[in-house]
Amino acid sequence: MSFEKNILCIGAGYVGGPTMAMIAHKCPQYRVTVVDIDPERIAQWNSDDLPIYEPGLVEIVKAARGRNLFFSTEVEEGIKESEIIFVSVNTPTKTFGAGAGMAADLQYWDKTARQIRKHSESNKIIVEKSTLPVKTAQAMERILTSADNGIRFDVLSNPEFLAEGTAIKDLEDPDRVLIGSTQTREGLKARDVLVEIYSNWIRAERIITSNIWSSELSKLVANAFLAQRISSINSISALCEKADADVEEVARAVGMDSRVGSRFLSASVGFGGSCFKKDILNLVYLCRYYDLKEVADYWEGVVKINDYQKERFILNMLNIMFNTLANKRICLFGFAFKADTGDTRESPAIFVAKRLIEEKAKVVITDPKALKNAMKDLRDVAGEISYVEDPYEASAGCSAIAVMTEWKIYGDLDYKKIYRSMAKPAFIFDGRNILDHEKLFKIGFNVFPIGKPGLTHF
Ligand SMILES: NC(=O)c1ccc[n+]([C@@H]2O[C@H](COP(=O)([O-])OP(=O)(O)OC[C@H]3O[C@@H](n4cnc5c(N)ncnc54)[C@H](O)[C@@H]3O)[C@@H](O)[C@H]2O)c1
Repeated sequence: MSFEKNILCIGAGYVGGPTMAMIAHKCPQYRVTVVDIDPERIAQWNSDDLPIYEPGLVEIVKAARGRNLFFSTEVEEGIKESEIIFVSVNTPTKTFGAGAGMAADLQYWDKTARQIRKHSESNKIIVEKSTLPVKTAQAMERILTSADNGIRFDVLSNPEFLAEGTAIKDLEDPDRVLIGSTQTREGLKARDVLVEIYSNWIRAERIITSNIWSSELSKLVANAFLAQRISSINSISALCEKADADVEEVARAVGMDSRVGSRFLSASVGFGGSCFKKDILNLVYLCRYYDLKEVADYWEGVVKINDYQKERFILNMLNIMFNTLANKRICLFGFAFKADTGDTRESPAIFVAKRLIEEKAKVVITDPKALKNAMKDLRDVAGEISYVEDPYEASAGCSAIAVMTEWKIYGDLDYKKIYRSMAKPAFIFDGRNILDHEKLFKIGFNVFPIGKPGLTHF
C-alpha cells in the first residue's frame, strides 16, 4: 500500500510514542514510524505491555500498529525513507561542564542532527518536538547544512504541550498547536506542510504559527508559568499553616477571579515530572547568558520554593511525630509524580523517600503503576525500603501514611480497616489534599493536610 506521506519520529519516549500514535490514528493515509536507539523500549512498544502508561494509549496503538504505525530500531533506514522527521529525543539538564545543573544537555539532539545529515538522500522537513533552548533550530540547521551535499533541510519548531496522565486527551483536543518557522518562502512552505498534517483533526483556529524563536521560547515560558502557579500557592500554604487559614479556601476565593482562573491552584508537597524543573532552569540559564540577572533570579525562585516545600513536608512529619522517625514504618501512598502515569521522574516522592531513610525510618511504597520505576529510582539507597502493590498490606503496621500522588483510588479506600492495622498513634500526611480529613480524624487518625490546620487527638 502506498502512503501520502512518510513520517518518522526519532525518540520513542513519553512524547514521541503518544504523539505519533495520535497522528497514525487520525491520519491512516500517512505511514508513521517511530525509532529509538533503545531496543528494549522498541520491543515494549511492539508488545501488549507498552513502556509507558497513559489512559487510552494502548487502544490507539493496538489499532494502528502494523497498519500505518511502526516501531523500530532502524534509525538509518527510517531517515532515508521519510520526508518529515520529528525529533523527540530527551533534553535533560546538563550534569557536567559549563552550565552544569542548569543548561539543557543537547548531546542527544546534536547526535540526532548528525545522523539525519549522514543518512539523508532527499530533502526533509525537520520538526523539533523536544523542548529546547531558544536558537537551537539555528544550531540544528548549521549542523544539517554543513555537509553541503545539495540536500535541503527546513527546520520547524513544534513544541509539545501534552501533560502526562492526560496525553491522549491533550493530543486529540489540544488547547493549541504551535508551529514556528523561519519567515522565508521555504520556511513558510514547510510550515504549511505541518499545518496540513494537524488539520486532519484540529480546528484551524487552534493551530497557531509564529517565528521560530518565539515558538522555542513559548514552551519554556509555558512550563515556567504553570510551575510558578504551583509554587505561588505552595508558598501561601506555608503561611496558611501559621495563620490558621485554609489554603483551599484561599485558592477558591482567589481563583474565582476570572483574571486569575482556578486551575493549577492546588497546594501540594511540590511539583515533579521531567519537565518543569529542567525547563525553568533552562530558562534561568538563558537569562543569565543574556545578562538578565533579575529575570533569572525571579524564575529561579519558582524552583527554590518547590525545594522548600518538599523539605518543609519532611520537617513537619519529623516535628509532629515527636522529633524522631527512626525505626518507624512510614507508608508512601503513590510514587508517580502525578496520577494516571507511571512516570516518576523528579517525583517529590523520591526526595521524601530518601529523606525518610536519612531519618532512619522504614519506608513502604505503594503505587498502582509506578513501582518498577520506584525500584529503579531508589536502587542505590541503603536503607529498609519495601514495595507493596496492595495499599492495605502496605500500610499495615505503619505509624504514618504520606500521600504523595493524587491517585483516585486513595480517596476510595476503607480507612477504618487501615486504621485498625496501623501502629498507634496513627498519622496521615496528605501531601495532595485529596482525602476526607474530618472523616479520617473521626476514625482516629491524626491528620495533617497541606496549608490547613492539622486535626490531632493530642
Ligand atoms: N514528558 C513530557 O510530558 C513532555 C511534554 C512535553 C515536552 N517534552 C519534551 O519532549 C522531549 C522528550 O521527552 P520524553 O519525556 O519523551 O523523553 P524520554 O526520555 O521518555 O524519551 C526520549 C527517547 O529518545 C531516545 N533517544 C535519545 N537519543 C536518540 C537517538 N540519537 N536516536 C534515537 N533515539 C534516541 C531515548 O532512548 C528515549 O527513548 C524532551 O525534550 C522533553 O522536554 C516532554
